[in-house]
Amino acid sequence: MMRKYTDEELIARGLSPDMPKHVAIIMDGNGRWAKERGMIRTLGHRAGIERMREIIRHSSDIGVEALSLYAFSTENWKRPKFEVAALSALFLEYFTKEIDELHANNVRMIALGDTTKFSPEIHNAILRGAEKTKHNTGLKLNVALNYGSRDEITTAVKSIACDVKNGTLDDDDINYELISDRLYTKGLPDIDLLIRPGGERRLSNFLLMQAAYAELVFTDDYWPDFTNEKYEEAIKEFQKRTRRYGGLK
Ligand code: FPP
Repeated sequence: MMRKYTDEELIARGLSPDMPKHVAIIMDGNGRWAKERGMIRTLGHRAGIERMREIIRHSSDIGVEALSLYAFSTENWKRPKFEVAALSALFLEYFTKEIDELHANNVRMIALGDTTKFSPEIHNAILRGAEKTKHNTGLKLNVALNYGSRDEITTAVKSIACDVKNGTLDDDDINYELISDRLYTKGLPDIDLLIRPGGERRLSNFLLMQAAYAELVFTDDYWPDFTNEKYEEAIKEFQKRTRRYGGLK
């Protein structure tokens, strides 16, 4: 994958060229960001999209291989109708207008989650975006939309049970690799670094299996304030940590 910065340039920025392969981000705090400015929550989500653009671009520039962004959870349907409608309108706008730009930047975009729950316009815009960018070789961008880990695992278990029942799969052959191949993140590396801005210290049903050995970084900045500098700080924190995966160093 082409990246903008050379190893020397990354080192000059205080980063090691040894980047996390897969970064996941819970984009939290849009509502509070807007409220503190006396604005409606929707404007916080709009500011959140601006931040998304920057972080996607910067991820490509510094050589992150895959980026997963939590945009809408299976639980977010419980929000007031008005807010769900406002977010849906933003999704439609984003997946209609921004795909060309992503494509021009060699980004491969897929959705994580069951997007058939959204309107056909949104679902189709997402499908078209995935189709258009599927051969791109740059950043692998995964946007989680109507995503929840429990839902994802339940779907995987059902499909495995179905195969065992009809005899195409032997229960002795069930292992993590097989399960992992039935998750939305099929074919992607596990999460190395999971970042949650917005002040909360929880995972909220995001990529629970894939983040089993992820390093977690929590920051108090609201998502619209999570600049590229803050992103690099989180990566520096990751690069300082020792990963043992349950073994000894
Ligand atoms: C969490 O902030 C954010 C969301 C539930 C939506 C995230 C959406 C975006 C960043 C923009 C739209 C995305 C796409 C893919 C176009 P919150 O509302 O929970 O904030 P709060 O915790 O301060 O209330």
